[in-house]
Amino acid sequence: MAQLTKAVGALLCVVCLLVPLTSATTRDVSYCNKKANYAVKVSGIDISPFPISRGVETTFAIAAATDEVISGGNLKIDVTYWGFHIHSETHDLCKKTVCPVANGNFTIIHKQALPGITPPGSYTLKMTLSGANKKELTCINFDFSMGFIAAADGLAEA
Ligand SMILES: *[C@@H]1O[C@H](CO)[C@@H](O)[C@H](O)[C@H]1NC(C)=O
Repeated sequence: MAQLTKAVGALLCVVCLLVPLTSATTRDVSYCNKKANYAVKVSGIDISPFPISRGVETTFAIAAATDEVISGGNLKIDVTYWGFHIHSETHDLCKKTVCPVANGNFTIIHKQALPGITPPGSYTLKMTLSGANKKELTCINFDFSMGFIAAADGLAEA
């Protein structure tokens, strides 16, 4: 029994050391249409905390650059789970960045908490940015996976 307690203690210690190291990450993104010449180029997405867990508000900071002034528009988010479209939402771009967006670099900040019931598996998040005239300015995809262990965390916090 004492042996087991020691082992569990050691394991928890490893976890507590690892967590701060993985709390934020910058990920590469891929464009939805690799041949498109989007007016907005995305250089990376910063996810914090990382890995993404259920019931925890996650901040997505998207580093982008624009060729044209953006007076307003929408940010549409689509989530697919094992390839199935499960969720879609649209936000006012000007609530996620400062409008009008001048030529050059800018950052889009989006905060989202995944529900506690989010099942483990492989997810893709698609973010589509469109201008005031509905023109698609950019579209990016990135993949993430949700583990089984996080399910217990999510339930504990719920
Ligand atoms: C814009 O962002 C890119 C990519 O992060 C960076 O290399 C470049 O130096 C930035 N330019 C300015 C003017 O901040």
